[in-house]
Amino acid sequence: MLRSHTCGELRIEDTNKTVTLSGWVQRIRDKGGLIWIDLRDRYGITQLLMEEGRSSQELIDKARRLGREFVIQATGAVIERVSKNPKMPTGEIELDLTRIDILNASKTPPFTIEDETDGGEELRMKYRYLDLRRNPLRANLALRHRLSLETRKYLDSIGFFDIETPYLIKSTPEGARDFVVPSRMNEGQFYALPQSPQTFKQLLMVAGYDRYYQLVRCFRDEDLRADRQPEFTQIDCEMAFVEQDDVLDTFEGLVRYLFKEVKGINIEKLPHMTYAEAMKNYGSDKPDLRFGMEFVELNNVAQGKGFQVFDSAELVVGINAVGCADYSRKQLDKLTDFVKKPQIGAKGLIYVKYNEDGSFKSSVDKFYSQEDLKKWSEKMDAKPGDLMLVLSGETEKTRKQLNELRLEMGNRLELRNPEVFKPLWVIDFPLLEWDEDSERFHAMHHPFTSPKPEHEHMLETDPGKVNANAYDLVINGVEIGGGSIRIHNRELQKNMFKVLGFSDEEAQAQFGFLMNAFEYGAPPHGGIALGFDRLVALFAGQESIRDFIAFPKNNAGRDVMIDSPSPIADEQLDELGLRVVK
Ligand code: AMO
Repeated sequence: MLRSHTCGELRIEDTNKTVTLSGWVQRIRDKGGLIWIDLRDRYGITQLLMEEGRSSQELIDKARRLGREFVIQATGAVIERVSKNPKMPTGEIELDLTRIDILNASKTPPFTIEDETDGGEELRMKYRYLDLRRNPLRANLALRHRLSLETRKYLDSIGFFDIETPYLIKSTPEGARDFVVPSRMNEGQFYALPQSPQTFKQLLMVAGYDRYYQLVRCFRDEDLRADRQPEFTQIDCEMAFVEQDDVLDTFEGLVRYLFKEVKGINIEKLPHMTYAEAMKNYGSDKPDLRFGMEFVELNNVAQGKGFQVFDSAELVVGINAVGCADYSRKQLDKLTDFVKKPQIGAKGLIYVKYNEDGSFKSSVDKFYSQEDLKKWSEKMDAKPGDLMLVLSGETEKTRKQLNELRLEMGNRLELRNPEVFKPLWVIDFPLLEWDEDSERFHAMHHPFTSPKPEHEHMLETDPGKVNANAYDLVINGVEIGGGSIRIHNRELQKNMFKVLGFSDEEAQAQFGFLMNAFEYGAPPHGGIALGFDRLVALFAGQESIRDFIAFPKNNAGRDVMIDSPSPIADEQLDELGLRVVK
């Protein structure tokens, strides 16, 4: 080994030992006869010391030729520091250097390799290997490693088998576009990269491997956001001979284990909330339960008083912002602008201040008496000092808009503490959703999700009313995972495809392999997949998953470091039969 210790290891107890370290030069300070070098590796930083007159001149000359990010090997004796740095684990000691070997020189890096760097996003992505040297990214990848390891330990301890499934498959419809790979040996034909191993894990259940898991890469050609990458990792699982609660209990166990082991946090039993409740009370199927501010419907008290906007609305609904009655005109205008942004699309915002003196001041005082507004406050459980914010319109849209406002108020009031974790299960999702563009039903989760047995009879007559045996794991307003109990009966699967607008032939051509397998003793089964990148980011209290992936894509889906995607040679295109003949 080119080192006896790492740069994060030495302590005061090691004083007088002669050691050799290897690492990168983080910083050199040269002050009045004393020269310090901060030497960094994955484990930490150790300070190296040279002193004019005491250390050899050759050594000092060599040190003065070093630059940032040079890779060196340094030998010396561990000594106690004169001025200690309690913030660094190695802050009590330094190395009294006797020898430096330059293992490799370095150009001056394009940005500083410090916790707070001066490098812009694009530059850091281009030199990702330099960015990865920085502490915050190293800590992110360490957390990722730990979570991956603990996940495997837990699932192994309860009998799950890690089984790999293929990456070159045929497309499975999960809602996004597929990335496709041309086949040279089958000209004109394409593999698809899996959006998830959904059908394979179901086939593993048919094969009798009744507890499967995999930390698996999935590929989806969809628009990118902070919590979406074109390739991402799932903790993908499937179990046979289970009902919904068995799956929920098993993965609740995993979630609690991970929080306990990795963050030392005890998580209480996860609440179950139906999709309908989530939409009604939070306007979202992924409610952030770190704070209350639940929706209160006000149709009864707000309609019939001559305010046309409310009278003509399907829904009048509000939230109570505790302690915000002192909001200024300017602050209220800002909130109004917020809900009127095109992405949110509300027409306006009504406010009612419940003043400390017990009086009300609202933007609709013309239509509502103090008594009327008192009734609103009772419904909303508002107290003097609070601010009621009300939206109205078509039910579904208004709920979505109020959800945005609720989250915004949560941010403004600092109620979304990244160190607090509030997981829950959202259950009883609708099986299907109507798609206006294609004018047909789409599976809300995926086509393999089973309807609630008591709703099965409505599948053909009233499909929109059918609920699914599907569930999401939501933590702090983020959809961390989703799953369902699957269809395991050929006839039901065939019917499902019919409802989704597939002809028998199309269903057979695309999913014959699965439906055929259902004829050979398919056990009842169900499962879930957790978004691993999202889980890691959440554990670190962050929303963007990019810095929890070693080599992610940028917002345009590009890897700017290797410059991909990129054109390929004409010969390659020819070989694949992809050349367009003009
Ligand atoms: P679903 O499509 O809900 O379910 O995906 C499961 C979880 O994967 C994460 N996720 C993503 N993370 C990062 N980038 C993306 N582009 C991305 N897309 C999804 C989310 C999501 O909750 N086969 C089913 C699971 C099952 O039924 O068992 C599936 O893939 O956290």
